[in-house]
Amino acid sequence: MLTPKVIRAISRGRKSRTRWVAVCCLAGLTLLAYDELPGMTAHAQRPSDAGLVKLKAEFARPKAIPFSADDPSSKAKAHLGELLFWDPILSGNGTQSCASCHNPGLSWTDGLRHGMGVKEMKTHTPTLLNVAWAPILGWDGHFRSLEVVAFAGPITNPGIMNRKEGDLVAALQAIPGYRAAFTTAFTDHAITQAHIAEALATFERTIVSGTAPFDRWIAGDENAIGARAKRGFMLFTGKAGCAECHRGWAFTDEGFYDVGTATGDDIGRARLFPNTVKLKYAFKVPTLRDVARRAPYMHNGSEATLADVIDLYDRGGIDRPSRSDLIKPLHLTPGEKVDLIAFLETLTANPKPERVPVLPR
Ligand code: HEC
Ligand code: HEC
Repeated sequence: MLTPKVIRAISRGRKSRTRWVAVCCLAGLTLLAYDELPGMTAHAQRPSDAGLVKLKAEFARPKAIPFSADDPSSKAKAHLGELLFWDPILSGNGTQSCASCHNPGLSWTDGLRHGMGVKEMKTHTPTLLNVAWAPILGWDGHFRSLEVVAFAGPITNPGIMNRKEGDLVAALQAIPGYRAAFTTAFTDHAITQAHIAEALATFERTIVSGTAPFDRWIAGDENAIGARAKRGFMLFTGKAGCAECHRGWAFTDEGFYDVGTATGDDIGRARLFPNTVKLKYAFKVPTLRDVARRAPYMHNGSEATLADVIDLYDRGGIDRPSRSDLIKPLHLTPGEKVDLIAFLETLTANPKPERVPVLPR
C-alpha cells in the first residue's frame, strides 16, 4: 500500500532527480504524480532505491497457498477435485465440465463475453487464478466460500450445468474409479455432495498464477521488463491510482466498487446490501494476473481490450453517486496509456502445460 511513509521514502530518494507532487489525499492514502519520465525511469532501474524496493515488496508473491482449515488439503483430495473439474458427468446433458468455461488454456476463463451454459449467463466467466486467497466469491460476493460455489452456483443451476445432486452422486457411485478416488480422499469413504464440493474447492485452491516478467523484475532482474512497463508501474501505483484497489501480489484488495461501467438491472453487491449507496453497481476487483490473456474484461465482458479498459478509466466511467471516490477522469497522455498497457502485459506468465486427466469410467 502507498502509505505516507513509503511515499516520503520515495520522494526523499528522488529529490535531486525527479520532482514528485502529492496530488491528492483519499482516506489516508496518497496518490502521486511525476513530471520527469526519463529521470524517473533511470531511477526506477536502481534497486538500491529504498522507496522503490519497499513498493516492489508490496507486490511480492506469497510463499504458500492458504488452504482451508475446515477443508484441509491432501494430494488425493486435490487429484479427485481435478478429475471432477474436468468431467462432463457434472452436467445434466453430459457435455459440459467446469473446464468448459474455466479453461486453463485461457487462464481459467473462456474468452467469451458471458458464460455459456445451458443458457447464456448474465456475467463474464471470472478466472479461477488465485481463488485460494479470495475471502468471498462471485462478482457480487454472494458465495461465502469456495466449497459453497459448486452447488449454490453452476452444477444444479438449470441455466448452467443443470445436474441434480442425487443423480450426480449416483452416477459417480456407479464408476469404480470414482469409488476408489473418494475412498482414498475421505476417511468415511463416502461419495456425497459435500465431498464433491470439498474436492473441487481443494483442487481450485491449487490454481495459482505462474511467475510473470513482473515477478522477475521485483526479484531484481532489471531486464525482465522494459522501460515502458516500468513507467507503467509507477503510473499504476501513482498518478493513475490503480493500486488503490488492484493491490498486492494478485493485484486485488478483494473489495467491491462501482468503477462506472455497469448499467441495467445487475446492480452488483447492492443486491445483498440494498441500502449502501456505494455498493450499487459494485463488483469484485478482479485479479490482474494473466490479464493480457483474459479478454474480454469486466463482470459483463463489456470491454474488449486492455486499451478499452484504460480508456474507460481515463474517462472516469459514469459519474454517479455509487461511483467509487477513487475513480475520476485521469487525463492520461497517449504515451502514458501505452505505458500502463505495457505494465499490465508484464503480469502474464507463460502458460503452464496443462494435462487433461484420464477420467475414471
Ligand atoms: C457455463 C460456464 C460456467 C461453468 C460450466 C462453470 N462456471 Fe464457474 N463461473 C462462471 C461464471 C459466469 C461465473 C461468475 C458468476 C457471477 O458471480 O456472476 C463463475 C464463477 C465461479 C467462481 C467464483 C470465482 C470468483 O473469483 O469469484 C468459482 C469458484 C467457479 N465459478 C467455479 C466453478 C466450478 C467448480 C465449476 C464446475 C462445477 C464451474 N465454475 C462451472 C461460469 C461457469
Ligand atoms: C476503485 C477501485 C479501482 C480502481 C482505482 C481501479 N480499478 Fe480496475 N477494477 C476494479 C473493479 C471493481 C473491476 C471490475 C469492475 C466490473 O467488473 O464492472 C476492475 C476491473 C479491471 C480490469 C478488468 C480485469 C478483468 O479480469 O476483467 C482491468 C484490466 C483493470 N481493472 C485495470 C485497472 C487499471 C489499469 C486501473 C488504473 C487506471 C484500475 N483498474 C483502477 C476496481 C478498480
